[in-house]
This record gives sequence, structure tokens and C-alpha cells, in this order.
Amino acid sequence: MNILGIESSCDDTCAAVVRDGKVLLSNCVASSAAEQDLYGGVVPEIASRRHIEHISQVTRAALDGAGLSLAEIDAVAVTFAPGLIGAVLVGVNFAKGLAFSAQKPLVGVHHLRGHIAALYLTHPDLAPPFLCLVASGGHSHIVQVEDFTQFRVLGRTVDDAAGEAFDKVARTLGLGYPGGPAVSAAAKQGDPRAYALPTPHVEGKYNVSFSGLKTAVLNFVNRARMKGETVSVPDMAASFEFRITDILAEKLLAAARDTGAKKICVAGGVAANRVLRETLTTGAKHLGARLYLPDLSLCGDNGAMIAAQGYYEYQAGHTAALSLNGYATLDIDDPSLS
Ligand code: KG4
Ligand code: ZN
Repeated sequence: MNILGIESSCDDTCAAVVRDGKVLLSNCVASSAAEQDLYGGVVPEIASRRHIEHISQVTRAALDGAGLSLAEIDAVAVTFAPGLIGAVLVGVNFAKGLAFSAQKPLVGVHHLRGHIAALYLTHPDLAPPFLCLVASGGHSHIVQVEDFTQFRVLGRTVDDAAGEAFDKVARTLGLGYPGGPAVSAAAKQGDPRAYALPTPHVEGKYNVSFSGLKTAVLNFVNRARMKGETVSVPDMAASFEFRITDILAEKLLAAARDTGAKKICVAGGVAANRVLRETLTTGAKHLGARLYLPDLSLCGDNGAMIAAQGYYEYQAGHTAALSLNGYATLDIDDPSLS
């Protein structure tokens, strides 16, 4: 079954074709990140406009790349929540038009479910149940993946998402957008023990909080500037990266220990982080669990993950009517999704 996946929930316009939820036939993206960098972060209106400009060509490129015509596609899957609402709606409306004109089933996909499905593309042998940390620019969740379309949230951020914290710290350090890769690159030359940053206290065993950590960096940098002192950007980047990845890894490993999970995974943009991947590799080994990491090319937003999850949603009978709407927020385990 060939599924065309469309994703436009943030600043990347993406389309891809995936066969049977696991075989990647094409994966195309047009990103407005470089333009967003001019403003220090994503400007929703600019994202929406660029999606409108790029979506037809990106979809055409995905079909051409797969060597398939629209007639040979079996269903159109699209991210319908959560995300920047104007951006989400561009993809939803485009997918609806395409499905209607080609008389194909339409499948609405939850963005975080999509991030998790990127793991099936990298590891075709992986199947639920497993435990997954989903860390992106807008979300940080520890999720029990009970089945391909069944999820239970064990923990979540009570304030900023992990990616958001990377982006804000990058801005404080003058490193540009997107912040994750920029902080990581600067951190390579730094000492992760140079600055002692706090581990914020948070209610809920598997919840995380990054607002205090982000503010600690901001306060430290501002205070140093006021005193005319310099802050080593590589050292601060490395100290922040060390602290945040340590918190994420510890929470995921604690949840794995408590639930007896033998398969643990990471998904989302932050899953590309080298230090997080290394820390979890060591931690999983100690725990006797197998760690599954998504291919680096599939950590950030992409159409393939939406096509992959679209396949499982379709199998579960979750097709959408042409009245499908987009939503800025929606829980991964919302009852409306089952
Ligand atoms: O999943 P994603 O592409 O988009 C959302 O759904 O938000 O995640 C984007 C986030 C950004 O905040 C970005 O800074 C972060 O993922 N990110 C990273 C890395 N690459 C991207 N964070 C840490 N280390 C990285 N290497
Ligand atoms: Zn995402």
C-alpha cells in the first residue's frame, strides 16, 4: 500500500511516499528555516506563506521521486494536529483537495505519532510495545507505545519543550535558529562541566521542566555582561547540552526501569542530538534494554513519518472525512483519535 504523507505543522513543507508503513520511496522537503533565522525563530505567518508556495512542488517531487503517479497512491495522509494552526491548515486543505480530486482515502495523522513512526522506517523489525521519549520543538513526552495507534503518556514537560529550550539558549548565546544543531556544534569545543546548571525540581516522576534551566543560562549570561565579564559560548553550550540531555535520559531510563521496558526509543527533532544518543546508548546497555534511534535524516519534521503512521491509522480504520479540520493542540492519546 503506497501512502503519500504531507506535513506542514511548523517551518518545513514536506511530502513523501512510503510503502506499507516501512519502505521509504521518496522524502522531500522545502524548509523556511533560513528565512526564519532572520527573525530569531519561527514567524507563523511566514511559515504559512512559504507552505502555500512550496506544497505543490514538494508533493510533485515526492511522487516523481517514488516513480508513481497520483493514481498509484492508495491514500493521502496529512498532519492535522498539533502545530502552528495556519501552517497545519495549509497541509490539511491541500491534502483534502488532492484526496477529493483523485478519489483517494484521506487520513489525518497526529504529528507526535508521526515522529514515533519514523522509528519503523529506520528499524523495520521494531513493533510496539515500547517506551519512547518524544522530544521536539513543541513537545517533550515520555510515552508508552502500546500499539501502533494506542499510546499512554507517562510524563511530559510542565513548561518549555526540550527543543524550545535549545532554541532559546541558542538565542541567548547568539547562535541562531534552529538552536539545537547550533548549540550542539558550539558545544563540541566546550567543557560540559564548566558551568554548574541546575536540575529543576518537578512534580510527577516522569515529568520534566526546562524553564528554570533556560532562565539560569539567561541570568548567568546577563549578569556576566553587566559585570563586563565574558561567558565562554562553547562552555555554556556544552554545559547546557550536558544538563538537558542528562535530565531527558534519566527520566526515560527511570520510566524504563519502573515499567520493565526492554525496548526504548527516542523520536523528534531533539533525537538528533549526539550527546543524548550517546548517553542513552550507555544507559540502555546498563539496563539491559535495546535502544532504537531514528536515522538522523528522520528525526526532524518530514513527510515520511506521516506516511508511515498514516499506514497504521488506515489499517486501524482511522480515515477522515473531507470535513477534517486542523488543530493547534491535541493530545497524542486524545479519545477522538481512536
Ligand atoms: O521535531 P522537530 O523537527 O519539529 C517540531 O515538531 O517541533 O523539532 C525541532 C526541534 C528544534 O527545537 C530544534 O532546535 C531541535 O528540534 N533540534 C535539536 C537538534 N536538532 C534539532 N536539538 C538538539 N540537538 C540537535 N542536534
Ligand atoms: Zn515535529
